[in-house]
Amino acid sequence: MTLISKHFAVIGQPIKHSLSPHIHLLFAKQFELLIDYEKVEVNRETLLNRLDKFKSKKYSGLNVTLPLKHDAYLLCQELSEKSKLCESVNTISIKDNQFHGDTTDGIGLIRDLTKKGINLNQARILLVGAGGAANAVIADLIECSPSELHLTNRTIEKSMVMEAHWKNFAEKNSVSLNISGNHGVDSSNYDVIINATSAGFSSNISPIEDILVNKKTYCYDMTYGMETPFMKQAIKLNATVFDGLGMLIEQAAESFHIWHKEKPETNKIKSELKLLKLI
Ligand SMILES: NC(=O)c1ccc[n+]([C@@H]2O[C@H](COP(=O)([O-])OP(=O)(O)OC[C@H]3O[C@@H](n4cnc5c(N)ncnc54)[C@H](OP(=O)(O)O)[C@@H]3O)[C@@H](O)[C@H]2O)c1
Repeated sequence: MTLISKHFAVIGQPIKHSLSPHIHLLFAKQFELLIDYEKVEVNRETLLNRLDKFKSKKYSGLNVTLPLKHDAYLLCQELSEKSKLCESVNTISIKDNQFHGDTTDGIGLIRDLTKKGINLNQARILLVGAGGAANAVIADLIECSPSELHLTNRTIEKSMVMEAHWKNFAEKNSVSLNISGNHGVDSSNYDVIINATSAGFSSNISPIEDILVNKKTYCYDMTYGMETPFMKQAIKLNATVFDGLGMLIEQAAESFHIWHKEKPETNKIKSELKLLKLI
């Protein structure tokens, strides 16, 4: 085994249940890389201070999760084009004493959808939620050329802000971007509904109405580790349902590639996590 003393961590709050260390260690094993990868609870107030500590301790990279992705975007000295567009960073590389920010959430979602056989080209998509996750994946969704992308959110004003932010990008990509309130959404003909809310943690009601789902709808919940009310609703209505574990694994694979320049095999990670009784 090659001895490489590279240190990584995932930071956020809460962080206790993060699977990222396990996933990255399983990837590292594929290339016989010896790395260490911790989870560290960091809040918004202490982010700058903690980043400086990681730098002085010669960490090579950090994954950034809720609620720090936008703050990390503001603090990185260099940013990938996608990070600039999404104003979000989930992967930091620490090089030459500087923080380089990237975002891999969008690519993680698209790769997982593609692996599941879901083609977004010319699809009608409903994206539910207007928080960090929705904003981090929307650029990649638009780049897949759906015919329509509808946005909806509990606080509909946030969908309006989102629409204003993404309007030009959608136009450039010939995608029709609209807001759909829960009431008055035109029909139940969405091909794909993506739940990018955290509603599953706080509510036993799905964030969308039954009328939007039919048996041909692909329902994808970015949340993982539980069967959310949105997933239960989709099962009840005979739709095809997925949780966000595949996205988590694929976004981690892209972070791994940024740091190590290696592309890990992702297909067996879910079963390896099961064997380890982590899921
Ligand atoms: N699989 C992955 O790799 C991956 C990656 C990123 C995120 N995620 C998941 O995506 C989810 C959202 O994360 P985030 O970073 O976007 O969080 P966030 O920035 O806090 O946004 C939360 C979103 O959920 C909505 N929401 C919360 N409670 C709700 C409820 N009871 N009913 C309806 N809507 C509700 C919020 O609506 P309001 O605006 O009205 O408050 C907002 O749109 C989380 O479950 C997270 O774990 C998964």
